Amino acid sequence: MSEQNSQNYKAKSFAMNDDAALYQKSNCYPRRDAVDVLTEFLPKFRWKEGKKRIFDIGCADGSVTNIISAFCNNDYEVFEACDINERAVKYATEYYGTDKMIFRVMDIEGQLPKEMNGKFDNVFSFYTLQWIKNQEKAFQNIYDLMAKDGECLLTLLARIPVYSLFNALKDTDTWGYLLKYINQFISPYHDVSDPDVIIQSLLEKVGFQYVDVRCRQKKYEFKDIQQLRNILEAVSPFNVDKKLYEQFFDDIMEVAEDMRIIDRRTKTATFHYNLIVIHCRK
Ligand SMILES: C[S@@+](CC[C@H](N)C(=O)[O-])C[C@H]1O[C@@H](n2cnc3c(N)ncnc32)[C@H](O)[C@@H]1O
Repeated sequence: MSEQNSQNYKAKSFAMNDDAALYQKSNCYPRRDAVDVLTEFLPKFRWKEGKKRIFDIGCADGSVTNIISAFCNNDYEVFEACDINERAVKYATEYYGTDKMIFRVMDIEGQLPKEMNGKFDNVFSFYTLQWIKNQEKAFQNIYDLMAKDGECLLTLLARIPVYSLFNALKDTDTWGYLLKYINQFISPYHDVSDPDVIIQSLLEKVGFQYVDVRCRQKKYEFKDIQQLRNILEAVSPFNVDKKLYEQFFDDIMEVAEDMRIIDRRTKTATFHYNLIVIHCRK
């Protein structure tokens, strides 16, 4: 690949696959974790009296936004959700949009619209913040979105085999060009010690009064190998040429066998990963 093409590739490709329908049918462990975290942490919330304003960051297809809404008894003045990806927002709006549930395109790492400052009593963001390079900016924006005494509940990935699987092909002749900028995809907390300690100090710096950060060791058993392949395809940011697409994911699945993520005998797969769970009060 020429340097020019390689630069173009870099510039346009580091966002999650925007096939929201594929994410909707494959986000098995993100959904499971959303339910677990909401079940554990919402009873600790000091809910505001009366109707609440709620915000969800990184809605993708909207299915997890819908789970959050159900946990809030669908009882709020307004529930807004955002994603950086226009196609995802369109899809979520079609599936779950109502006059009280509004999806919008917004970058949580960018400049917040002025009218959103201090607007929300509760902010959620699940499985999204690992995409953000400027972590402090995103946490600052989350703080700014929140009303006084507002609370947020966030999850993000630290170490997970997804990164190791793609990374294993980085130095191959066949896929090296595609994976050259893989570090832009990998969570800033994939390969660090004590990610919870780093995040805790960022959140305190931003100004949160109460900060509780946990690093949870999670396990997910895929019901079959296709389920694993679906989620890898759904989150992959790599724009593989159509003709090479099947080959690329065949190779990733072979790496998964070599890494013993796939059990050749039972034809099942298991992920062990670290999920950061954050509960803060402003
Ligand atoms: C893995 S999905 C998570 C979807 C859902 N929250 C869940 O728990 O299943 C991550 C989403 O974050 C979005 N995203 C990535 N960077 C973002 C940013 N800077 N601002 C807003 N959304 C972003 C992606 O487009 C993607 O839809």
